[in-house]
Amino acid sequence: MLVLGLETSCDETAVGIVDEKRKIRANIVATQFEAHRPYGGVVPEIAARAHLDKIDDCVRAALKEADTNLDSIDAIAATCGPGLIGGVMVGAMTAKAIAAAKNKPFIAVNHLEAHALTARLTHDVAFPYLLLLVSGGHCQILLAKGVGDFQKLGGTIDDAVGECFDKSAKLLGLGYPGGPLIERAAQGGNENAFKLPKPLVGREGCDFSFSGLKTALRQIVEDSENLAAPDLAASLQKTIAEILADRVANALKMIDTKPTALVVGGGVASNQKIRANLAALAAKNNLPFVAPPPALCTDNGVMIAWAGLEHFRLGQTDPLTFRARPRWPL
Ligand code: KG4
Ligand code: ZN
Repeated sequence: MLVLGLETSCDETAVGIVDEKRKIRANIVATQFEAHRPYGGVVPEIAARAHLDKIDDCVRAALKEADTNLDSIDAIAATCGPGLIGGVMVGAMTAKAIAAAKNKPFIAVNHLEAHALTARLTHDVAFPYLLLLVSGGHCQILLAKGVGDFQKLGGTIDDAVGECFDKSAKLLGLGYPGGPLIERAAQGGNENAFKLPKPLVGREGCDFSFSGLKTALRQIVEDSENLAAPDLAASLQKTIAEILADRVANALKMIDTKPTALVVGGGVASNQKIRANLAALAAKNNLPFVAPPPALCTDNGVMIAWAGLEHFRLGQTDPLTFRARPRWPL
């Protein structure tokens, strides 16, 4: 069984192909960083246009990499939300067109579920597992009980954690995309140089808040004449890693079923400091810690193909009338 997956919800045009034996047959990612860099962030109109320019070539490249053709593909999956709607429509329409032309089943994939299920492709994790989903637009703790079956335990009350990384990087003059640049800058810095606030830490529940942290950082940047960017980047990274671990620790106390593992997913999950803190927390709780390789944490087509395959093998497909949606809670 081969499933083709298209991802176009943000600033990555990506196409993946996976099979039911959990083998990645193709992974094509065309980033748009250069197109958005002059603006310091993703411009939705530029993104949509770039997806349109690149998606056909990406599909062709994926088929070539997998040494296959559309006739041999069993189902076509595409991100149908949540995300920047212009981009989501490009991927969804392309996938529907292929499905219609080749008379193949179509699967509308929720981008968040794709991040959530990636660990089952890379590590074969069984349900239920506790999941920290951290990306540019989302920050949630979920109990993953089954395909299409997620219980939300906590979420952010203001910014997503990736947003905090991105806005902070901008403040520090590091550029875009912020997360990887902060991680790189932090390598040369002292993580104990600045004491930053940890909103909600120590409080009950497992919600998140990052806006106070961003404001504190802005204050430091504005107040200092000779800013040691690496020190501030390292301190920010450490603070965020501690916030995330504190919230997940609470979530572990909140659930009454024992999860099979602590899983992390989404672009921010590629951060090594965050992974280390979560791994330590998992070890303390006698749980396996599962983190997909960084390239499968940030947006990619493989995770869409895999989420599509998980639904497809349960007999779940979607009509071609399924609409792309900017919002689509899990
Ligand atoms: O999952 P993703 O690729 O796209 C969304 O679905 O949002 O996540 C992108 C986010 C961005 O905010 C980016 O700065 C962040 O993930 N990110 C990182 C790292 N790599 C990407 N944050 C911290 N450390 C990283 N190494
Ligand atoms: Zn994502």
